[in-house]
Amino acid sequence: MEIRQKGCVVTGAGSGIGRGIALALADAGARGVVVADVQLDRAEAVCSELEAKGTMARPFLCDVRRSESVEQLAEMAWRELGHVEILCNNAGVIATGAGFDATDDDLRWQFEVNVYGVFNGCRAFGRRFLASGTKAWICNTASHHAVGTPTKGVATYVATKHAVLGFADAFRLEYGESIGFSVLCPGIINTDLWDAGRNRPAELGSAFEGSDQNHAALEAYGMSPETVGKLVVKGIQTEEFFIWTHPYSMELIEKRYREGRDSIQRQWPDGPLPMHKRTPGKV
Ligand SMILES: NC(=O)c1ccc[n+]([C@@H]2O[C@H](COP(=O)([O-])OP(=O)(O)OC[C@H]3O[C@@H](n4cnc5c(N)ncnc54)[C@H](O)[C@@H]3O)[C@@H](O)[C@H]2O)c1
Repeated sequence: MEIRQKGCVVTGAGSGIGRGIALALADAGARGVVVADVQLDRAEAVCSELEAKGTMARPFLCDVRRSESVEQLAEMAWRELGHVEILCNNAGVIATGAGFDATDDDLRWQFEVNVYGVFNGCRAFGRRFLASGTKAWICNTASHHAVGTPTKGVATYVATKHAVLGFADAFRLEYGESIGFSVLCPGIINTDLWDAGRNRPAELGSAFEGSDQNHAALEAYGMSPETVGKLVVKGIQTEEFFIWTHPYSMELIEKRYREGRDSIQRQWPDGPLPMHKRTPGKV
């Protein structure tokens, strides 16, 4: 999809990958970008960068966990930009630790931001996109964790990212003729994600600082978020469903595919049932 002259909204754009996406959309000729974040000062700083490029930019304090906040974001975006065609549901958080040690609040916080946040964005903007009748695009930030589990200690985060892929998969089947969908599946990116605890609300556990070890890993191995932004723009322009940052993700997909294929072959050695014996409406 062409990005030039389009109205764009990016959540979690005050930092990291979201900022990278916002900058890249501006470079691709976006008409304007709404920079939505729960940290308004950071959103304002990114808007200054966008304006320095000559792109209209508006900061917006938005908590993607709350559907009313995302509705307000959509209203503001249409009011300020005139029209909106591209939404990047990117805000996300992580809490690390052994799987069985996760607290109810760890789970709830990550699901509220990573999953409810993505759903809130898809629903609020998706309804408006359908009503406008013009071509639109939604890019949801998942992770390579959406297609496999490359590391231990992030079980609750992994589950949220599978859900992000699930929504995009289901929505494209339902609405794909009117709205395009992409799923960004980054590998390790050098951002502030390991300090995600800075934004953890008191009612969902207390704020926490990321470990130095995790910081060092991101700095040593992480791709730059500006590069990710360019990959997202290219993915939207070329209308890709999956947008990858690291080719090694192929191993995760192949492992899942092989495991699925081999288990089906073991359990159904005579192959698929003839068509007339399949459940109607099911594959
Ligand atoms: N950094 C990585 O290695 C990596 C890898 C795969 C996927 N991701 C995903 O990329 C996305 C962006 O993360 P990042 O790495 O740039 O981290 P980041 O912490 O630099 O940026 C995340 C942004 O989301 C904002 N945010 C947090 N809670 C919010 C809320 N409730 N409402 C609105 N905004 C909120 C933060 O203020 C921050 O600006 C996330 O969805 C993350 O899961 C990151």
